[in-house]
Amino acid sequence: MQPFIVLINTLWWMLPVYVVHPAAVLTGGGMPIDFRKNFLDGKRLLGEGKTWCGLVGSTCAGLMIGMIQNTLAVIFPNEYFPVFANELGYAILIIFLLSFLSIWGDSIGSFIKRRRGIDRGEKAFLLDQLSFLVFTWLMLIIIVPSWFFEHFGNWISLITVFVLTPVLHRVVNIIGYKMGKKKVPW
Ligand code: CTP
Ligand code: MG
Repeated sequence: MQPFIVLINTLWWMLPVYVVHPAAVLTGGGMPIDFRKNFLDGKRLLGEGKTWCGLVGSTCAGLMIGMIQNTLAVIFPNEYFPVFANELGYAILIIFLLSFLSIWGDSIGSFIKRRRGIDRGEKAFLLDQLSFLVFTWLMLIIIVPSWFFEHFGNWISLITVFVLTPVLHRVVNIIGYKMGKKKVPW
């Protein structure tokens, strides 16, 4: 397949993975996931920035966007913006995994930050930008290996995603900061 089409396909299928993060900023608040409990090291498990509302709200947003994408792909079949999977039930499972794993990966990143003594909202280069991506891809490889390798198992997808994710992360956070939705631009 043409490299350009592979690149567009990759970004299309990755959209739920990206959407959950700004969605968590918009829907987050209230009780933190760690119920304000500390880990063995005496520091917060995840911190005040990871909330149940953010988790549920962002997963729903990712599911919604993915379902809209999949529906559009069914109505207007084309090679640039294809379905997540041919069978609807399987497509829903994939969209759910893309969203849910991505926002959990974000919490894993916070867990590591707290262990390293980095406070909530403080910058952690590469950890902030890539932890959710690495977690999402590793889990997809374990849970749905055939789907993963069929859709992302090529050099173009790998390079596109690992180069573009930190850039996208930065741009979206600056927009969130300017809109007054985020306290810091990272
Ligand atoms: N958010 C949330 N629940 C989540 C993830 C994010 O409520 N599961 C919201 C929080 O309001 C959080 C904001 O989205 O402050 C931005 O997310 P992020 O930058 O990942 O969190 P930080 O506050 O920077 O915390 P950390 O240092 O733990 O990453
Ligand atoms: Mg942050």
